[in-house]
Amino acid sequence: MLTSTKEILAAAQLRKYAVAAFNVYNLETLQAAIRVAEKENHPVIIALGERYFDTVDVEGFAALTKALAEKASIPVALHLDHAYQKESIVRAIDCGFTSVMYDGSKFSLEENIQYTKEIVEIAHKAGVSVEAEIGSVARGDFSDEEEGEGTLTDPKSAKKFVDETGVDFLAASIGTVHGMYKGEPNIDLGLLEEIQHAVQIPLVLHGGSGTPDNIMTQAVAKGICKVNVNTEVSLAAVSYLKQAIEEGRQVHLSDMMSGMQKAMEPVMTKFIRLLKNQQ
Ligand code: 13P
Repeated sequence: MLTSTKEILAAAQLRKYAVAAFNVYNLETLQAAIRVAEKENHPVIIALGERYFDTVDVEGFAALTKALAEKASIPVALHLDHAYQKESIVRAIDCGFTSVMYDGSKFSLEENIQYTKEIVEIAHKAGVSVEAEIGSVARGDFSDEEEGEGTLTDPKSAKKFVDETGVDFLAASIGTVHGMYKGEPNIDLGLLEEIQHAVQIPLVLHGGSGTPDNIMTQAVAKGICKVNVNTEVSLAAVSYLKQAIEEGRQVHLSDMMSGMQKAMEPVMTKFIRLLKNQQ
């Protein structure tokens, strides 16, 4: 059933597990995410990034997600990922997204507070929850996110930010990257612990792809309630496609699409199993 992100993450925080937020861009990514979540009997967050607004019909996509969510046996939330424009946030709220992420991480702390506060007012009036980010996540390989500076989140600033903006969830930058790591991951779990002590709201980990399993489970134990996943799932689909073409198989688009969906499912399952491990 379609469920608010806030309700899903409150349960995760209480029971010390995390929920995967899979980036989706088409029917196959959407179907794969809901299908594996149902098989694993675990909630799931469907996340559409603002950068896909040019290629994905947002209202149509929201209607489709809500229809599939209503049929699903597990809670499903619909989240707007990395939005930089107020117009995109209003558009997502208007068509029923259950949460939005405003990304003001490139601004100074004071500016980020000011802009985020405005978004929180708009979203809360509509009963929609807000995720925001301070510090910024760097970009590794194969990601299509914007480049971030990789500045780690300062716990004192995190507290000030949360107190002054009223955001519902906070994306903490602790050394994960968007995309695959270029070298050894250097993730600061001690910092995560400090952030968790400084703020009470559910914490979000961006850059799930390539993050070692043991780091992920420790991060969940230290307060991460939502993990964003994009690149690793995309790579599985693209590598299926490449292989099929290289083998020179007689291909039809419909087979390619369902083949890609099947290729994405084990990767999504791996993430869900890791995140629910702590229950
Ligand atoms: P990855 O591409 O590293 O999985 O990160 C996704 C993400 O954080 C989207 O917000």
